[in-house]
Amino acid sequence: MSVGNVRVIYCSTVTSSLKKDNFIELVRASVINNKNLNITGILLFNGRYFFQVLEGDNGVVNKLLDKINGDDRHAEIDILSRRAIDSRLFPKWSMELIDANNDFFKETYGGEFNPYLFTDQQSLECATNAKAWRMRRLQEAS
Ligand SMILES: Cc1cc2nc3c(=O)[nH]c(=O)nc-3n(C[C@H](O)[C@H](O)[C@H](O)COP(=O)(O)O)c2cc1C
Repeated sequence: MSVGNVRVIYCSTVTSSLKKDNFIELVRASVINNKNLNITGILLFNGRYFFQVLEGDNGVVNKLLDKINGDDRHAEIDILSRRAIDSRLFPKWSMELIDANNDFFKETYGGEFNPYLFTDQQSLECATNAKAWRMRRLQEAS
């Protein structure tokens, strides 16, 4: 029986296998793939750490996580939160890329953005903060 939709949040550390050019390619390919899989979420990156939220069907998210786990462009993958969800936090974003080096994150998290320190609850708060920040920026731009 299907468990329905889940939200998984993980963090990881970039490795030297990730070059600047293929990062842009990685993001582009992921957005297309996630759209096809009806997966939504965000990817925060500060040049060192990734923080990703993936929302979608439990089985589909698990399969994607298997792939992501085996990707040598990052390492030390740490699952911060996994929850069954009734509604998505990011219904409109397939994989919105957010730079975690911006002023908002510096002010909110002080010094370096280090998602490995987050509890389950703090990782959810970070996802919510990131959404609010991005929405404000999009509104300012329109
Ligand atoms: C930090 C990080 C996040 C990723 N996120 C996604 C993602 O959300 N969706 C996706 O399709 N691939 C993502 N990938 C890429 C996958 O690991 C994998 O390369 C991709 O799914 C292509 O798989 P394929 O070669 O089997 O088509 C991510 C990779 C990294 C390093």
